[in-house]
Amino acid sequence: MAFNCVNHEYYLNFGDRVLAMIRKIFHNNPEFRHDSLKHAARFAPIIPFMSGRPDLSKTLKRVVTFPDHSNSLYFGCPIILAAGANKTAKRICDYANMGFGGISVGTATRNFREGNTHRPRVGFIEEERAIHNSMGLNNEGVEVIARRVDAQLAKAHKVGLCVGVSVAETPGLTNDEDKLKDVVESFAIAYKAGDYIEINVSCPNTGESRVDMDLSLTEKIFSEIMKFRNSQTLRKAVYAKISPDLSECHLVNIMDMLVRCGVNGVVVGNTYPTKKISELPVQTKFEDLTPLRADGDCGGMSGRPLYENMVWNVKYIREHYPQMSVIACGGIDHGFKVFDLIKMGVDAVQCYSVVAFRWMAAHSMRKELAAALKETGYATLQDYDNHNPKVTTLK
Ligand SMILES: Cc1cc2nc3c(=O)[nH]c(=O)nc-3n(C[C@H](O)[C@H](O)[C@H](O)COP(=O)(O)O)c2cc1C
Repeated sequence: MAFNCVNHEYYLNFGDRVLAMIRKIFHNNPEFRHDSLKHAARFAPIIPFMSGRPDLSKTLKRVVTFPDHSNSLYFGCPIILAAGANKTAKRICDYANMGFGGISVGTATRNFREGNTHRPRVGFIEEERAIHNSMGLNNEGVEVIARRVDAQLAKAHKVGLCVGVSVAETPGLTNDEDKLKDVVESFAIAYKAGDYIEINVSCPNTGESRVDMDLSLTEKIFSEIMKFRNSQTLRKAVYAKISPDLSECHLVNIMDMLVRCGVNGVVVGNTYPTKKISELPVQTKFEDLTPLRADGDCGGMSGRPLYENMVWNVKYIREHYPQMSVIACGGIDHGFKVFDLIKMGVDAVQCYSVVAFRWMAAHSMRKELAAALKETGYATLQDYDNHNPKVTTLK
């Protein structure tokens, strides 16, 4: 496949340098540093030079529609805060202050989970602008999270946020029947609350084998989930979050199965298993990283080094499965990248690591995306979509 992808660079501005200083000051407590995002989001409107407010202009609004007439999704802009950044679903609207047009909360499991007990669970790889983490799906349980989403959803829509709930199977269950029951229950609870539901079958951080490694179980899960979804009056969109490290053959098998089950789309993808770091364009070696789990593992990698691989996966899926909605995720840290991906046919992008490296990242990316649009002669994203309808069938 022809492959042309630019990992666009951004110039470090004053805010980015302040962020670098904060990372340095708190280098002994990466989890605290990481958690501080929620405070930044909350106080962004009153901290003078952050000037973080929801952007309600029409320029970057995006409506995602589905061939099977599932409910459309309305994003204030196609830049979504990826799962893991707001695991609690508290104060969702604050993230509109940071410039996001959507948010995936969670990942939630059926019940409360402490996550991995080893510390630290997050590590920063400064030179590569990457993060590796092994949080281990810590969360308060899907009922609590769904209740919070439900209570805030209308307000979130008013500030331009589309809200997804990410759910995963509880790690540690041993037989397939229990696994199936567990994840379908979580899905049903989350379904009542979110605008869309994201099924995380690719978490490399729990010490258990990933669900997407067992195709027959994954198929059972998705066919039950879609059976439930199709029995509801409201048809909400269902996305599968897949791993970025799949072989072509495995990717084809998973995608064929998702199409068979009628899943609406894919989030491409999750963190890259850190033990395979040598497959990414990085200098860092696995042995040099701080272990993030008691078993010596370093969990999953996020950030800039994931970009090229993610683009390859996105191109492949767009070419072979045009009926699927694609949300790109992995190393997206520039508005020009967002525009490149939109040109490839993605419906939206998700990002996470960039918020640790770029000051008010989503606002900066919005500006870059708007500039890229203008340069191409379009005033709004809607205008672009009208002139460049998305391909949804095989050529
Ligand atoms: C600290 C941390 C926690 C994460 N937790 C989750 C999670 O709970 N569920 C999930 O689906 N992805 C989780 N992710 C993965 C992100 O959602 C995203 O897929 C990944 O970071 C790649 O995007 P990025 O390069 O923009 O960071 C987490 C990532 C990080 C860095």
